[in-house]
Order: sequence, then structure tokens, then C-alpha cells
Amino acid sequence: MSLRVAILISGGGSNMVRLLEDMAEPGHAGTPVLVLSNTPEASGLAKAKGFGVATAVVDHKEFGKDRASFEAALNETLKKHGVDIICLAGFMRILGAEFVAGWQGRMLNIHPSLLPKYKGLNTHQRAIDAGDDQAGCSVHLVTPELDDGPILDQASVQVRGDDTADDLAARVLIEEHKLYPRVLREFCENFVPH
Ligand code: GAR
Repeated sequence: MSLRVAILISGGGSNMVRLLEDMAEPGHAGTPVLVLSNTPEASGLAKAKGFGVATAVVDHKEFGKDRASFEAALNETLKKHGVDIICLAGFMRILGAEFVAGWQGRMLNIHPSLLPKYKGLNTHQRAIDAGDDQAGCSVHLVTPELDDGPILDQASVQVRGDDTADDLAARVLIEEHKLYPRVLREFCENFVPH
């Protein structure tokens, strides 16, 4: 039985593209059934359509400060598509404890730092400012605490003396594109429904 995977995005969706490409390979235990964005402007939506994957927008702006209703709408859409596993891939909304609890052990995120370092935003500049010689990315299970759940795997890159945050982000992104498909693939293979 194939696991039904939703990918949640907010932007360009380059990680999403890599996950879709990998799931298109024969024998993958996951099938992409939905790409969902919290904004209609996410350019990744058109890319998902190019793969023939269903897309949906649950626009957070329509819900104002009412996060509970936004998350209820997310859940309704996910349920409608029979989703088993969620991959957050550049999804830039913080999800509340109740939503996260409902997906515990079934929601993955990619974060552009070597967690537990640099949770939150501006990860690359913070790594440069700290004088780190390694930066990287992590795929982890999502728990209610931001960027805090069990780490499934990481990849690192060398920080160069003259790196700008953009330089570093570009090199880390190359690693993200290898790491996330590999981790999702293994996660689906080992997934035990509860
Ligand atoms: C990626 O670098 C991802 O790690 C990061 O956003 C980018 C999305 O790029 N995610 C976060 O910062 C989450 N806190 P993409 O849309 O091209 O995949």
C-alpha cells in the first residue's frame, strides 16, 4: 500500500520538486497526492501542476489572527485528499500544538541549519556571524516546539571565509535537494501506521 504524501509550501518549492521527482521513481513507498500552499502566490504551485499533482491553497490571510480556523481548514483539505504523511518544504507558517499533535510522527520538515543550532529564521547569516566552519540542513519530525523535533538526518557544507548568507544558502540548498528525498524515501519504507 502506497503512503499518501502531502507537501506544504509557501514559495518556490525547489525541495518540493525534488520530492516529487523522487516519488515518481518506481518502487517508492510514497505517492504525492497534494501540494498545498498557504499563499496563492507560491510559484511552486504551478510546478506541482506540471507534475500532475493536485494543488490547493489555504490562504492564511483570509483567517486573520484566527490560527485555529486556518489549521482546521488545512486539516479539512488534508483529510479530503486522504493524506498519511506531511512534508513541510519551505512552509513558512508556524503550526499550533493541536495541529501538530494530530500529525505527530507523520509530519517532516526541512530546516536550513544544523539543528539544534539556529532554529527560526536567518540561519545562514547566524552561522556566518558565529564564525562556524560548518553549516547545513536538517530533516526532522515536527513537534510543537519550533524546529525542535527528533532529527532524522542532516547534511553539512563548509563555510568559506568570504561567504555571504546567499552564497551559503545556495550551497546548503544543493544538499537539501539530496537530503530530503533520501530521508522521505527511508521514512516511507519504515513507516508503521498507528
Ligand atoms: C529551504 O531552504 C528550506 O530549508 C527553508 O526554506 C527554503 C525553501 O526553499 N525552510 C525554512 O526556512 C523553514 N523554517 P524551496 O521553496 O525552494 O524548497
